Amino acid sequence: METTLAIVKPDGVKRGLIGEILKRYENKGLRLKAAKVIVPTLELLEKHYEEHKSKPYYKPLIQYMSSGPVFAMVLEGENAVKIVRLLNGATKVEEALPGTIRGDFASSTTFNIIHGSDSIESAKREIALWFPELA
Ligand code: PPS
Repeated sequence: METTLAIVKPDGVKRGLIGEILKRYENKGLRLKAAKVIVPTLELLEKHYEEHKSKPYYKPLIQYMSSGPVFAMVLEGENAVKIVRLLNGATKVEEALPGTIRGDFASSTTFNIIHGSDSIESAKREIALWFPELA
């Protein structure tokens, strides 16, 4: 069975969207395997976003992600990686369709509410980083 990592980002937590987002994943048939509310350390975020280090949005992204509590979760189900990405919507806010989490709730590409692993390999790497206790 496939597993993936999703993170409700600080603006999503502040806006009280954890329940709404989890409901969408569960309605689609995914199961919650592990979850926690944490303020991620810079060390964790630097590892998580290491492939984006050279991008202009890297520093603001790390600052934003460390600005408050996030809700990190491991979801399990058939095609979990693709299903979470589909429900999350496009990264660029102007491309996120209505009916997706970003399409319905995000108005900025930086403050885009939710993260989902982009491949099975990324999911494995990210779950090990955020939930070392599951290894
Ligand atoms: S892209 O468009 O291919 O670069 O997007 P992606 O590789 O999926 O994810 C890039 C992560 O950086 C966050 N981010 C931004 N991306 C693009 N442009 C801007 N301005 C930007 N600001 C922040 C984006 O949300 C991705 O993070 P996660 O946590 O995966 O959503």
